[in-house]
Amino acid sequence: MKSQSHHRVGIIGHPIAHTLSPAMHTAAFDELRIPFTYGVFDVIDEFLPALLASLRKNEFAGVNITIPHKERVIGLLDSVKDDAATIGAVNTIVNLNGKLTGYNTDIAGIQKALEPFGERIRSGSVLVLGAGGGARAAVYAISRNFSPSSVRLYNRTISRAEAIVNEFKKIFPGVAFENVADVKRIPAVAADSVLIVNTTSVGMTPNNGTSPFSPAIRFSNQQIIFDIIYTPIETEFLRRAKSDGAQTINGVEMFVHQGAKAFELWTGERFPVDLARQAVLKALTST
Ligand code: ATR
Repeated sequence: MKSQSHHRVGIIGHPIAHTLSPAMHTAAFDELRIPFTYGVFDVIDEFLPALLASLRKNEFAGVNITIPHKERVIGLLDSVKDDAATIGAVNTIVNLNGKLTGYNTDIAGIQKALEPFGERIRSGSVLVLGAGGGARAAVYAISRNFSPSSVRLYNRTISRAEAIVNEFKKIFPGVAFENVADVKRIPAVAADSVLIVNTTSVGMTPNNGTSPFSPAIRFSNQQIIFDIIYTPIETEFLRRAKSDGAQTINGVEMFVHQGAKAFELWTGERFPVDLARQAVLKALTST
């Protein structure tokens, strides 16, 4: 959508104080000299419908959606595209003449972040922690792109992981999905996994010292440990994994690439990926 008039975009979530989306997108708008501004909306559940109604009326080109609204926002949209509809999670909305369309650009972000490790993931076991919109995107990207033998899920609220297992086994019949409902099984399941992905918000700033795993769970140098959190750049979960010799992946690459897709949907322009990554890394290391 190219236009000389001024457009607004932004992010809706809760809590949202530490997001680097404004810094990343603003660096890209400045580089390309396009008339967009990026705002932050800290919105709890009950105000989400009113905020989306006002977005339709204003000059918003679209928004990002983050924790905890990626699933529940779907009921407030006019249409939901392809993969986002399949997985039931939206992280990007495009507003075209008051009609809101949902997309999921997290899937592409996760795929990009894991691509260098694709061969190691293939035919291996994967453990995903969490069962929200981030988990749905991760399970989908991993199952579609890297053909693991199994994907096991563990979540605080067991029924949410159960729902993902039931839905995804129909989409990917070649992958064995399992809900690890009993936390006592986690050490054994973790030890048996080539890739472990944290999609929960545990460890995210301001709760930097927390981890989704107890310190008793150790990692090995055969494992890949991915945390989709990017604030802090190294979570407690990744810090422990690295000190045990595992290959770690932080959330920056996923963040930059999900942002790239959203930016391209809103502006019609190509996202300056390297410049955006530098802006994110600079913000992360200066805080
Ligand atoms: P999103 O859709 O953006 O992923 P979400 O649906 O709120 O956001 O998902 C956040 C994930 O972090 C969920 O798996 C959540 O667990 P519940 O389903 O039990 O809510 C998990 N999570 C958040 N805080 C947590 C905590 N303190 N301990 C364990 N899991 C937590």
